[in-house]
Amino acid sequence: THVVTEQCVHCKFAECITYCPVACFREAGTFLVIDPEECIDCGNCVEACPADAIYPEDELPPELQPALEWNSRLALQLPLATTDVAPLADAEDWVGRPDKWRTLKG
Ligand code: F3S
Repeated sequence: THVVTEQCVHCKFAECITYCPVACFREAGTFLVIDPEECIDCGNCVEACPADAIYPEDELPPELQPALEWNSRLALQLPLATTDVAPLADAEDWVGRPDKWRTLKG
């Protein structure tokens, strides 16, 4: 599977959704996740993301490994991300910031 990492948080550029042939993205308020049961590993979304937030599972850097559990767990709870998802207003300001997950509640 491919995995959305914390670089999506507070950006949610949503470019990835339109490049996905199987509708595997799920939407939270400030980020997306990929449903590992749906992802076919085409990799189209990796290049599409302006925040470089998406990795193939086997190329996840050690510090981003928690994203695997995050994606698989939240994909079961979140609704399908549709192509009319809009990027967050201050998305550009959040690109590349460290420790974005710490800014989320819970
Ligand atoms: Fe997030 Fe990048 Fe998609 S910021 S919504 S993974 S285009």
